[in-house]
Amino acid sequence: MRSFSIAPTSTPLKGRVIVPGDKSITHRALILSALADGPSRITGYCEGEDCLNTLRAIRQLGVEIREVSEGLDVFGKGLWGLSEPANVLDCGNSGTGLRLLAGVLAGQGFFSVLTGDGSLRSRPMARIVNPLKLMGAHISGRKGGDLAPLAIQGRGLSPITYESPVASAQIKSCVLFAGLFADGTTSVAEPQKSRDHTERMFTYLGIPAQEHGLCVEVQGRQSFQGKPIDVPGDISAAAFFMVAATIVPGSEVLIPNVGLNPERTGILDVLLKMGADISLLNTRNQSGEPVGDLLIRSADLKGIAIGAEMVPKTIDEFPILCVAAAFAQGETRISGAQELRVKETDRIKAMATELKRLGVVIEETQDGLIIQGQSTLHGASCQSYGDHRVAMSLAVAGLAAKDSVCVDDVDCIETSFPSFHSKLLDLLTSSRSSL
Ligand code: S3P
Repeated sequence: MRSFSIAPTSTPLKGRVIVPGDKSITHRALILSALADGPSRITGYCEGEDCLNTLRAIRQLGVEIREVSEGLDVFGKGLWGLSEPANVLDCGNSGTGLRLLAGVLAGQGFFSVLTGDGSLRSRPMARIVNPLKLMGAHISGRKGGDLAPLAIQGRGLSPITYESPVASAQIKSCVLFAGLFADGTTSVAEPQKSRDHTERMFTYLGIPAQEHGLCVEVQGRQSFQGKPIDVPGDISAAAFFMVAATIVPGSEVLIPNVGLNPERTGILDVLLKMGADISLLNTRNQSGEPVGDLLIRSADLKGIAIGAEMVPKTIDEFPILCVAAAFAQGETRISGAQELRVKETDRIKAMATELKRLGVVIEETQDGLIIQGQSTLHGASCQSYGDHRVAMSLAVAGLAAKDSVCVDDVDCIETSFPSFHSKLLDLLTSSRSSL
C-alpha cells in the first residue's frame, strides 16, 4: 500500500489545474451510450478506476468500446442488445456503478452477478433491491438482498410509482434505468432533490422523461440514438483545489471547465458563505449540463452552520469541508448528514478520528460534526480507510499544518483522481518557479 507525505508549504499555490471528467456523468454516459442505437463518442470522461470498472462491465455485456485519442467510442447495441456476461461484473469501489448497472440488468433477458471490493460489499443495497423487486425483478444477495454480491435473473419489468425514503441520485437513477425496460411510465419521487445528471442526459438523448417538482418519470421501451457526450470536469475533484487555494495564503488557482450542475454546487455555496474568494467565469452549456471556469484566491474563512437542506448538493464534499472548517474562524456545525455514514467509509467517523489526530477539536454527532476552527494542526500519520475523498482531504490539510502529514493507503485515490498528487505538486512548483 502506497502512502504519501505532504509538507506544509510557505509558497502559495499558483496556476491552472485541469480536473478529471465528472465521475457521475461518465458512468451515465457509458451506460446510456451502450443502450443507444449506434455509436457515441464520449470526450472528457473520468479515467478513474470507478468509471473504468463500469466500462469493463459494459464490455463484458457485449458492447464494443474503443479508446481513441479524443476519448471513447461506444458502439451502442440498443435497449435489447446486451448479452449475458460470462463472468461476475466487478464494480470495484463504485456504489454508483453497481447501483446504476443493477437497474439496467434487472430488465434483461439473462442472468448476471454484480460485486465490488470490501467497502462496496458492506454498503446498503436494499435501497435499490426493494424498488427493483416492486418492478418484478428477481434479485438476491447476502443479508436478504441488502449486501452485494447481487445475483440478478433479468426479466420483463412493470412500471412503478416509487417514493424513495432517501434523497439519493443512485436510487433515483437505478429505478429510472430499470424504467427504460418497463412497459409504461415509471416515476420516482424523493424527499429532496438529488443530482439530476440522469434526467439531463435523458433529455439530451431524446429519451421521453419529465420532471414535476421532486418527481421524475420516464417512458419505458423507447429506443434512442447515440450522440456525442462531452463530460465536464468534476466539481467534486475541483473541491480539493478550491479548499487548498483558499487556505494557503497568497494562492491563485484557475480550474477551467468544471461542471456547475446546481445540484452539485453546494461546495461553492458553502465556501462562499464561509468567506471564500471564488469567481465563476465563462459559464456555458455542454451536452445538457452547465459548465464554467473557477478562479480561486486565498481568503480567511469563518465557521457556519450547514444543515440538512444543503446535504444532497454537497454530499461528496463533507470530508474536504471539514478541512476548510478546521482552518476557519469559529465553529462549523454540520447536521442532517447521516448518509455520510454509508459512503465508501463512515465519513463522519473517519474525519473526526483523523482530524483529531492532527490536533483539531472536532466532535462527532449521529448526523454530522461540530468543528472548532483555527485549531493549530500538527503533523501526524493519518489513515484514509481506503476512501479516496478522505485521503485527498487529509493531504490538503497537510499543506497548511505545522508539520508534514503522512497519509497511508493512498492507492484509493485512483478511483476518482489518479493524477491528484502530481497536480498538487505542479501547482506548488509553478508557484516556486514564478517567485
Ligand atoms: C452519485 C450520487 C451520490 C454520490 C455519489 C455519486 C451518483 O450518492 O455520493 O458519489 O453519481 O449518482 P447518493 O445518490 O447515494 O447520495
